[in-house]
Amino acid sequence: MNQDLGMRPGLLAPSILSSDFSKLAEEVALVAGAGADWVHVDVMDGHFVPNLTIGAPVVKSLRPATELPLDVHLMIEEPGRYLPDFLAAGADWITFHVETQDDPRLLMQRIHDEGKKGGLALRPATPVGDVLPFIDVCDMVLVMTVEPGFGGQSFMVEPLEKIAVLRAEAARLGRDLEIEVDGGIDLTTLPLAREAGANVFVAGSAIFGTDDVADTVRRFKSLIG
Ligand code: DX5
Ligand code: ZN
Repeated sequence: MNQDLGMRPGLLAPSILSSDFSKLAEEVALVAGAGADWVHVDVMDGHFVPNLTIGAPVVKSLRPATELPLDVHLMIEEPGRYLPDFLAAGADWITFHVETQDDPRLLMQRIHDEGKKGGLALRPATPVGDVLPFIDVCDMVLVMTVEPGFGGQSFMVEPLEKIAVLRAEAARLGRDLEIEVDGGIDLTTLPLAREAGANVFVAGSAIFGTDDVADTVRRFKSLIG
């Protein structure tokens, strides 16, 4: 059914949050070699979410280490303030949260002015209606299926309904919208998100937490098709 709604090609974006940071370039090379499509980079500021992770300097170091697009997920209170740093560091995709006070249209414009792609994310409890008014300027919408802040949490099924609404709305508007799903994605939950209409799949612990990371990436890819 999702084919009828203009399904986009499926992409796998391993989240380095669950990787070994002491050998980040090797971890990224491993998933890239096994067929990963993007590298998902989780940026947390200890305010928007109760956790601190990494910033633009890590993105800058990673940039020459891989040819894969860097998919930067900003879980920070003031995305506009730090946007120039991430653009300069070499992010290809920058996604920020609709729950922040910053103006999505303005930030998307700034991202597009640099020739980069922009996404708008929403927490599990945020209604899909909060992002619908901005779909015309979004390259992607990221639907969280866990509360943002930590890897390794259990998948929430309720947000899938938002994915279906977004896919239908993108089709209605004739937009090539990527719909990314993030949180608790594994080999069991991925098909549920795909069926709902998601086409970009973030997975952290289900990839980097396994013994044979390359084999796991190949399994994910075979599910995505
Ligand atoms: C959570 C992050 C996710 C996280 C996913 O706030 O946005 O990208 O790395 O981790 P898993 O796949 O383990 O749920
Ligand atoms: Zn993320």
